[in-house]
Amino acid sequence: MHVRLFKPSVGREELEAIAEVFDRAWLGLGPKVREFEEAWARYVDSPAALGLNSATAALHMAVTALRLPPGSKVLVPSMTFVASALCALYNGLDVVFVDCDRDTLQMDLDDLERRITPETRAVVAVHFGGYPVDMPRLLEIARRHDLKVIEDCAHCAGGSIGGRKLGTWGDLGCFSFEEKKCMTTGDGGMLVANDPDLVERVRANRWLGIDKDTWKRQAGYTAEGPDDARHWHYEVAEVGYKYNMNDLAAAIGLVQLKKLDAMNARRTAIIARYLDGLRDSGLVRPLMPYRTDGEHAYWIFGVRVPAAVRDDVIRMLKRSDVATSVHYLPLTLHPLFKAHAGATPVAESVWEEMITLPLFPDMTDEQVDYVVDALRRAEAAVAPQVS
Ligand SMILES: Cc1ncc(COP(=O)(O)O)c(C=O)c1O
Repeated sequence: MHVRLFKPSVGREELEAIAEVFDRAWLGLGPKVREFEEAWARYVDSPAALGLNSATAALHMAVTALRLPPGSKVLVPSMTFVASALCALYNGLDVVFVDCDRDTLQMDLDDLERRITPETRAVVAVHFGGYPVDMPRLLEIARRHDLKVIEDCAHCAGGSIGGRKLGTWGDLGCFSFEEKKCMTTGDGGMLVANDPDLVERVRANRWLGIDKDTWKRQAGYTAEGPDDARHWHYEVAEVGYKYNMNDLAAAIGLVQLKKLDAMNARRTAIIARYLDGLRDSGLVRPLMPYRTDGEHAYWIFGVRVPAAVRDDVIRMLKRSDVATSVHYLPLTLHPLFKAHAGATPVAESVWEEMITLPLFPDMTDEQVDYVVDALRRAEAAVAPQVS
């Protein structure tokens, strides 16, 4: 049996939504993007949402919206995807890496506090894997040190703490709808903010700095009538990017949003089945302390095995046709950040124990059991090496 690692859960409803966009023949930034933004803002209970073509763009725009002074430092965990740190570099700011907690793998908030200096102005809180950063504590630290908080919610769309959706705890929240994530638009992202002015500051930046997008211009064309020869007019006041979401993506997103809670519930049920199957394992431990009460939305399920046998286990799973990955090689070990190597010792050792296993809403119980069996066989085979 082949079991792939990730698989978007899309079908007839998404196709029908795309067909509707085709019928209207307005495929770019248009009314569907607005509709999806409003639906997303309602879903997470945020006063403002901006549709973008990726979370990478959302993170870039989130840092831009804060208008931090040159020389500012941004705290970023090293246990994350590179986009979480690039947003600071895109804005010409410095990254300071924060280590992770050995148990939860989330940013170690004691380490974070130790790294704060007068130049530190912001923190990118990544809810790695879907397990939330302790936001009440982080906000208390941020308040004391006057830091802005950006939540990187690429892994946790739909997750919450105490009923309050992730992405709405900090100043700004960034979501990913890339094809493998909790929900997808093919590629896509959403920026939300508790202060709508922060979103308005970057609205033009998502469309090359143009103050009036083509959808608004064509609306003016029909509304303002035959006497207006300047319906085409727009101005560029700042450097912008081609970061907008389009109506095709938004149409898919509106359907996926309706399914999001059910897809997250299925992910949680799969994780519960994995945990059950691995309960009495000696060598294989869950990647993090997963909760199965539905409060969290987990993008990945992973395990930890002793570092000495991790690659052997991956090879054996490969032979059983089970796809795996490792999330992540810490950023401090990438050539781009080589000056920071050694800065986050926990992340720089624990990644060697980590294996990401298949998880997607349409995964069957039989597939989960197959992966568990393959893993248990691999465990039995490597056990003599670590005893
Ligand atoms: C933690 C994290 N942040 C940001 C991103 C960027 O998301 P996107 O692919 O939508 O740009 C990813 C993508 O995997 C991610 O894992």
